[in-house]
Amino acid sequence: MKPKTFIPSLIIGFLSSVLIARGFGIQSNNECTVTPLGDGQDDTDQVLAAISQCGTNGTITFTEGSFDITRKMTWELNSARVHLFGYLNFVPDVEYWLNMPNTYQVVFIQSQSSWFVVTGSDFEIDAHNTGGIQGNGQIWWDFFSNRTREDGDGRPISLTLFNVTRGIVRNFRIDAQPFWCNCVVESEDVVYDGMLCNATNTNPEFAGTNLVPNTDGIDTYRSNNVTLMNWDITCGDDCLAIKGNTTNLLVRNVTCNGGNGIAFGSLGQYVNLSDIVENVYMEDLKMVRLPSNVQPNMGTGVYLKTWTGEVNGTPPTGGGGGTGHVRNVTIHNVKVDQVDIPVHVYQTNGGSVSETPSTLMFSGLHFEDWTGNATGNTIVEFVCSPAVNCTDLTVESFHVTPAANEAPRYICQNVTSISGLQELCSLQHRVMQLDRRDGVDELEV
Ligand SMILES: *[C@@H]1O[C@H](CO)[C@@H](O)[C@H](O)[C@H]1NC(C)=O
Ligand SMILES: *[C@@H]1O[C@H](CO)[C@@H](O)[C@H](O)[C@H]1NC(C)=O
Ligand SMILES: *[C@@H]1O[C@H](CO)[C@@H](O)[C@H](O)[C@H]1NC(C)=O
Ligand SMILES: *[C@@H]1O[C@H](CO)[C@@H](O)[C@H](O)[C@H]1NC(C)=O
Ligand SMILES: *[C@@H]1O[C@H](CO)[C@@H](O)[C@H](O)[C@H]1NC(C)=O
Ligand SMILES: *[C@@H]1O[C@H](CO)[C@@H](O)[C@H](O)[C@H]1NC(C)=O
Ligand SMILES: *[C@@H]1O[C@H](CO)[C@@H](O)[C@H](O)[C@H]1NC(C)=O
Ligand SMILES: *[C@@H]1O[C@H](CO)[C@@H](O)[C@H](O)[C@H]1NC(C)=O
Ligand SMILES: *[C@@H]1O[C@H](CO)[C@@H](O)[C@H](O)[C@H]1NC(C)=O
Ligand SMILES: *[C@@H]1O[C@H](CO)[C@@H](O)[C@H](O)[C@H]1NC(C)=O
Ligand SMILES: *[C@@H]1O[C@H](CO)[C@@H](O)[C@H](O)[C@H]1NC(C)=O
Ligand SMILES: *[C@@H]1O[C@H](CO)[C@@H](O)[C@H](O)[C@H]1NC(C)=O
Repeated sequence: MKPKTFIPSLIIGFLSSVLIARGFGIQSNNECTVTPLGDGQDDTDQVLAAISQCGTNGTITFTEGSFDITRKMTWELNSARVHLFGYLNFVPDVEYWLNMPNTYQVVFIQSQSSWFVVTGSDFEIDAHNTGGIQGNGQIWWDFFSNRTREDGDGRPISLTLFNVTRGIVRNFRIDAQPFWCNCVVESEDVVYDGMLCNATNTNPEFAGTNLVPNTDGIDTYRSNNVTLMNWDITCGDDCLAIKGNTTNLLVRNVTCNGGNGIAFGSLGQYVNLSDIVENVYMEDLKMVRLPSNVQPNMGTGVYLKTWTGEVNGTPPTGGGGGTGHVRNVTIHNVKVDQVDIPVHVYQTNGGSVSETPSTLMFSGLHFEDWTGNATGNTIVEFVCSPAVNCTDLTVESFHVTPAANEAPRYICQNVTSISGLQELCSLQHRVMQLDRRDGVDELEV
């Protein structure tokens, strides 16, 4: 006979003081423990039962092992603590998950889908570096190897924090995310401390290609006061993607293995919305190029991009014309290993320079203490919108070397004020003008 695996137990008396000592001031006395049913049985019901039983003023412990999850799941946690020693194994029935009603659409931007949403306030989920989410991504990546991928096509985000206030996610592992690994939306005072995302193709048929696009480490949207610390991301897209209305973001100790690097954007996709990004501090970042048979891309250290000022189709795939600004961003202590372009700003995503320029303005961008190397000769490229220009840029203690035997290029287009690079930028202008007279368009990348 199978042991009863879901054990809600009411412990009267001493628990309130124990829970207060742990920090949340929980007043009640619920504790639930869940162990996997095993043998390929569906664990969704017992997982949800435990959340419902102990997710308010309680503690839920998922033991080690694999919990099979077969349908979409919301955890509402209020004054609660979750110990997730095991893995939530989202069974890879690709066609099932791609059917929109089988996922949630709580992420407004690009109408993305989620199979697992965590919401609520004053909670902590600790996966103790032994548990988290099994995304079974290889099956998804193979499935999409000969299909068109589009934003909003239903591929699920692995872990979505939605409408959270004061939530902590700790020492969490997400293995083989099919799509974005994390997303935090419409949330406040959130801390992620310890996150591993690993989108690594092992199918030899696709060696040397990027089979894992859109496996972003996290996208942040409409959220204030979020901290990301101690992250290790292996992906084929944005390690972090800072999207509209992300304010007061702190990022510390993040390693990005492969992919495009850290993105701000794309911003200005929705013509009727304004994207505001303010007060971002990032430090201790490392970009690591992987062996090219595993992941061919290592695009940037940091890049910031907006759509043009023109509307080119509608979201989720098209867009443009959105307003807003990015202001007061510091990126400190970065080591880059063979990235294509260490720092890149451009404002023509989804369009071209001949279109109405973006009015989304970058100001107060500070790049300090960078070391490492690039694969080409462009070290810093600011190609700002002539409608607004970039202002108050600083590039300090920036020691990134170009490919061997190449002269470094620093591009500053439509930059109103910059410190640290003026000499090099003005030199670059002259080079460009000469090149243009020769009919060479150095500005194209
Ligand atoms: C949780 O604790 C709060 C604060 O003590 C209390 O107001 C609320 O009724 C409790 N809820 C449950 C479901 O125990
Ligand atoms: C993709 O490839 C699989 C087998 O590799 C095949 O069964 C399927 O029909 C292909 N799909 C498309 C859309 O080409
Ligand atoms: C967000 O959470 C608050 C409680 O903190 C709740 O009142 C509100 O309905 C939630 N909003 C949505 C859209 O779920
Ligand atoms: C930001 O969030 C952290 C973690 O929840 C919290 O300790 C801090 O007080 C918040 N900061 C502000 C200004 O609210
Ligand atoms: C990432 O996944 C690959 C392929 O499954 C595996 O070889 C590697 O050990 C994983 N890395 C980590 C840090 O878990
Ligand atoms: C940085 O984060 C990694 C996990 O990605 C962790 O192993 C390491 O100890 C952290 N370093 C510091 C200085 O905290
Ligand atoms: C903005 O436009 C999108 C469609 O692109 C729509 O879904 C959304 O509701 C609009 N938001 C506002 C605030 O008008
Ligand atoms: C961002 O916040 C501003 C208000 O500060 C609002 O007008 C705008 O619509 C928001 N943008 C998004 C993408 O939610
Ligand atoms: C700029 O952002 C930092 C956080 O990185 C914050 O401490 C500081 O107050 C902000 N400056 C202004 C003028 O808002
Ligand atoms: C580039 O930098 C990485 C990391 O600092 C280093 O391991 C590598 O040897 C460097 N490559 C070249 C060609 O300098
Ligand atoms: C400003 O941007 C426009 C459009 O991209 C470009 O044609 C022009 O050369 C730029 N100005 C400078 C001074 O770089
Ligand atoms: C943008 O900067 C360029 C110099 O790069 C300058 O000629 C132009 O007047 C500036 N435009 C605005 C809108 O500030």
